[in-house]
Amino acid sequence: MIDKDDFRPITRNRRRATITNVKSETVKLRNGATAAAASDPKAREALTKNLQAPLNEDKRKCGLYDKMSCHKLQESMLSSASSFKNYRGILNWCVVMLVLSNARLFLENLLRYGILVDPIQVVSLFLKDPYSWPAACLVIVSNVFILVALYTERKLAMGLINEKVGLLIYIFNLTAVLYFPMVVVLKLPSITPVGGAFALGIYTILFLKLYSYKDVNRWCREKTQAKARSLSRSLSCPSTQSASGGMQVSYPGNLSLRDMYYFVFAPTLCYELNFPRSESIRMGFLFRRLFEMFLLTQLLVGLTQQWMVPIIRSSMKPLQEMDYSRMTERLLRLTVPNHLIWLIFFYSFFHSSMNFVAELLRFGDREFYRDWWNSETITYFWQNWNIPVHKWCLRHFYKPLMRRGAGKLLSQSAVFFASAFFHEYLVSVPLRMFRLWAFMGMMAQLPLAWFVARFLRGNYGNAAVWLSLIIGQPIAVLMYVHDYYVTHNQDDPTVIEAL
Ligand SMILES: CC(C)(COP(=O)(O)OP(=O)(O)OC[C@H]1O[C@@H](n2cnc3c(N)ncnc32)[C@H](O)[C@@H]1OP(=O)(O)O)[C@@H](O)C(=O)NCCC(=O)NCCS
Repeated sequence: MIDKDDFRPITRNRRRATITNVKSETVKLRNGATAAAASDPKAREALTKNLQAPLNEDKRKCGLYDKMSCHKLQESMLSSASSFKNYRGILNWCVVMLVLSNARLFLENLLRYGILVDPIQVVSLFLKDPYSWPAACLVIVSNVFILVALYTERKLAMGLINEKVGLLIYIFNLTAVLYFPMVVVLKLPSITPVGGAFALGIYTILFLKLYSYKDVNRWCREKTQAKARSLSRSLSCPSTQSASGGMQVSYPGNLSLRDMYYFVFAPTLCYELNFPRSESIRMGFLFRRLFEMFLLTQLLVGLTQQWMVPIIRSSMKPLQEMDYSRMTERLLRLTVPNHLIWLIFFYSFFHSSMNFVAELLRFGDREFYRDWWNSETITYFWQNWNIPVHKWCLRHFYKPLMRRGAGKLLSQSAVFFASAFFHEYLVSVPLRMFRLWAFMGMMAQLPLAWFVARFLRGNYGNAAVWLSLIIGQPIAVLMYVHDYYVTHNQDDPTVIEAL
């Protein structure tokens, strides 16, 4: 039986009092005997046993008391006031649910359509005729524009042509970089939409690179001329040794074929005379990236053929009949595979491919993306998801505009306008139809950025960014695919059948 006394609070004082007794010379033992705390070992043992007994008793009482008092002042874990933050289990639950629901979708897709993955069909997306490779030829021709830029720079450096003539040649060359492939893609029937998009993508990258090449070499000329004026020194500077031991090149020593082609292949759009270089090529890292590229490309193709294409096909009829409820259902169905494909594309392009090329070229700056997935504003997303393009926009477009006195809003609008132009260029020209969906999608980023920054904060802002990515892209995809089928295949019986 538990004594009433047992529920008294047990304080440290009580225990300390017991322990203090040890020090006394004469101690009353439990059985009533008195033992001198003498040097006799038997007496000492008996004394120890006797002293431990009340201590154990106290412990037992303390335990009983703790058992009885089981409440304290505290918040529920899910309450925001509890400061509990560990939701790792919930995250795992989300992943398990995601895998399960997608496994169901995958099974449903297989049962309904069978296996649609066809690697041969992928080749036919690039080539109509196996003996004619127009997109590859177009890419090879791009070397002409690279060489024109290099020789213009050499002439400018030697003073054989003045800045105005150099600028005119550049304007002609850069305009040709955009116009020439466009005309070829529009006029050449043997070029497929995918092949055309690939070639135009390469030319767009080249346009941005050559623009940067022009600007940086001009800045170098201005700098060396200013130095020469103040120090009355020679215009050319010899190459020097860098701190890391490599050769540092100086203007105009950079105007070589080797330097130009290093920049053309390097995973950046911004030219520099001396890029940061890594010490050596890590073979393990290189092969891991190569393996990822191979695997993820297969996955992208498989998911597109097996998951995206059937949904797009089944969306054509509701779109033609303007059946809004079915249109919404198809759009929502498309969001999952479209978003998954976009995420895989992001990893395979910005991580695997760019790191592969950078490792091969010992290109040191590997910041190809930042944590865009944490974006709480649209602005943060555009600053962080595609770093090569963002760096180019800042260095060669946005900052020069700001320095010339244009306001922030005007400069931002100009950058987004240019970006919208290139997005439309890369979609409309290969599809051979101008619908402005991509252009409008990009321009809509400005009011959307304002709305999110003005009305949404924290997690709500982050959710808005995800929602715009998840919903925005399939809308544009459906619009283009629908218009493409209607424009090009109206009379094609196989397409009518598919609808
Ligand atoms: C438009 C865009 C360039 C604006 O970038 P931002 O980072 O929001 O611009 P900010 O106003 O914060 O200023 C950025 C820089 O300009 C500098 N700057 C601001 N005013 C300046 C002025 N008057 N003169 C010179 N520099 C100025 C800032 O100091 C800052 O420099 P830092 O980067 O060295 O710190 C960016 O949103 C963007 O890249 N958009 C397009 C992205 C795109 O289309 N991507 C396509 C991917 S497929």
